[in-house]
Amino acid sequence: NGYENIIVERRGRVGIITLNRPHALNALNAALMTEVVAAATEFDQDHGIGAIVLTGSEKAFAAGADIKEMTSLTYADVLLSDFFSAWDRFAAVRTPTIAAVAGYALGGGCEVAMMCDLLIAAENARFGQPEITLGTIPGIGGTQRLTRAVGKAKAMDLILTGRLMDAAEAERAGLVSRIVPTERLLDEAIETAEKIASMSLPAAYAAKEAIAQAFESTLAQGVTFERRTFHATFALADRAEGMTAFVEKRPPTFEHS
Ligand code: HXC
Repeated sequence: NGYENIIVERRGRVGIITLNRPHALNALNAALMTEVVAAATEFDQDHGIGAIVLTGSEKAFAAGADIKEMTSLTYADVLLSDFFSAWDRFAAVRTPTIAAVAGYALGGGCEVAMMCDLLIAAENARFGQPEITLGTIPGIGGTQRLTRAVGKAKAMDLILTGRLMDAAEAERAGLVSRIVPTERLLDEAIETAEKIASMSLPAAYAAKEAIAQAFESTLAQGVTFERRTFHATFALADRAEGMTAFVEKRPPTFEHS
């Protein structure tokens, strides 16, 4: 399918993007970023896809932004190219996204995983923001998303020391929703994606947008947004079907409309 740094597959209503630069532990260079954004955008525009899984290898989800690519850049270079801002497009995908993380998710790798709606970790997963050890700081949302996910104390600890945290600590801290045996990771992520993709896609968009509001607004504004969005689901054929199916004691058939 023309990609060099990722593998893209579809399984029914699930889209799978696998980061594939094994010689560099999936370090995120510009070419890889462009491909991930393109593949995710294509899945997002395809309403035959109801959930997207982003994964890496067993050794590394991604060991960070590509340090070799950044070494000689100047301030003017990164400012004028708005370096890393293209990832914002990945975060803006409306289709539910799941990061399936095994091995290292460091720096930009951790940040891209945190852009996903749901994070499932293998037992061998290790998360960290080691940018400080390179004389820089996270630049793809790490100081913001990690702090919202795990709170100030642990975000300060991780970002100021650069230390890594294992899957158990990440789950305790609220960064990941579940931990699974490493060999089960992809199956678990795909099963979860299939489950999500079997729901009404407009309802999934609504749920995702409403949760996102929790990070963007006051409680009162967020609750109002939720209430209006909930009201709006009564315009969906899928909402009528879901409730009718319950009453008739049968499984619903969602048409994503
Ligand atoms: C470029 C990388 C890389 C990276 C690993 N590699 N991480 N190349 N950018 N981020 C390359 C190594 O150079 C090496 O290539 C190959 O992948 C295998 O890595 P090793 O170090 O030999 O593996 P290992 O000893 O198992 O150690 C794994 C590791 C270590 C602990 C993950 O690679 C590591 O510390 N990587 C850097 C992690 C990091 O600092 N990430 C944050 C990046 S900054 P060769 O060719 O030598 O075999 C970032 C910034 C975000 O993300 C935005 C703000 C600026």
